[in-house]
Amino acid sequence: MTSGVLDSAGLAARHLLTVDDLGAEGIERVLSVAGSFAEVGRRANPKVPALRGRTVATLFLEDSTRTRLSFETAARRLSADVVSFSASSSSLNKGESLRDTVATIEAMGVDALVVRHRASGTAHRVAAWAPGVAVVNAGDGWHQHPTQALADLYTVADALRRPGEDALGCFAGLPVAVVGDVRHSRVARSLVAAYAAVGARVTLVAPPTLLPPSLEGWPIAGVSSDLDEALEGARVVSLLRLQAERGSGAYVPSLREYTARWGLTVERAARLDATALVLHPGPVVRGVEVASEVADLPRARIGAQVRNGLVVRMAVLFLLLGHDTGSAGAGEQVAGGEDG
Ligand code: ASP
Ligand code: CP
Repeated sequence: MTSGVLDSAGLAARHLLTVDDLGAEGIERVLSVAGSFAEVGRRANPKVPALRGRTVATLFLEDSTRTRLSFETAARRLSADVVSFSASSSSLNKGESLRDTVATIEAMGVDALVVRHRASGTAHRVAAWAPGVAVVNAGDGWHQHPTQALADLYTVADALRRPGEDALGCFAGLPVAVVGDVRHSRVARSLVAAYAAVGARVTLVAPPTLLPPSLEGWPIAGVSSDLDEALEGARVVSLLRLQAERGSGAYVPSLREYTARWGLTVERAARLDATALVLHPGPVVRGVEVASEVADLPRARIGAQVRNGLVVRMAVLFLLLGHDTGSAGAGEQVAGGEDG
């Protein structure tokens, strides 16, 4: 968002580019609308007419399984039309620039463009190139992946929130360990911003080589290279994959050593607090950042993160696009069935 202020129906700005601009209020709004969509999802017909007549395009120029499918499913559940851009068979291969590709998609009259790209800052550039379209950042280089952080916060709140507690109350002072390849991770940057906004206390845990060159300005409670120590008292352990496609292999002596010192092994998981949750954005590389058995424990919420990612993305698309359809507000639209 370019502003953290919310209007009465949706989010104030046209885009979701970083977590930072959402603020606690924006995060709370997304989680609350996502909660309503989760209820709709339990009905026999999980579709709502909220974005009927709207078109959502996905422009993924970097690999993805869950984010792309999740956005496309979210758009369809909201009754929007979906246009899916395939980089490998596109005219990018004939020398067309990304800017002209974006202009071409915009000219087709799409309402939202969901963008993933290996270069940090691409979502911002697309938003500048396509002023008439709502741009959602689905991951840009090392920079941001805001809807992953929103899905993770939803998952934590869903597990820890007590009856009657404020929507974000469970996050106050919550000790969170973000573990792994922080240096190359847009998920880490998004999580740190989101957890800080809602009052959680994040400790980064990584080999020194996999920390960013400077942590100045990072709203964190601490940094550690000792995973065993950092796991003591952690209520949420958010694991990160080694971002091999961004060169992380050059920063660790060997995968075996990385796993021995910074992997969530069966022995380490057994020492976690009884109520501690284990999160991982996926894709999981079993046996490296997490033991396969640990990834399948009930305390590991990896499947829930994917399920919740769907309703969070429905909420984001709805809040960005749903407010100027001239129809009912969020509550009524969520309550209505597909034909409602
Ligand atoms: N899927 C997440 C991302 O695209 C995390 C990862 O790939 O490790 O950032
Ligand atoms: N978590 C995540 O972004 O997964 P994909 O890379 O599969 O989209």
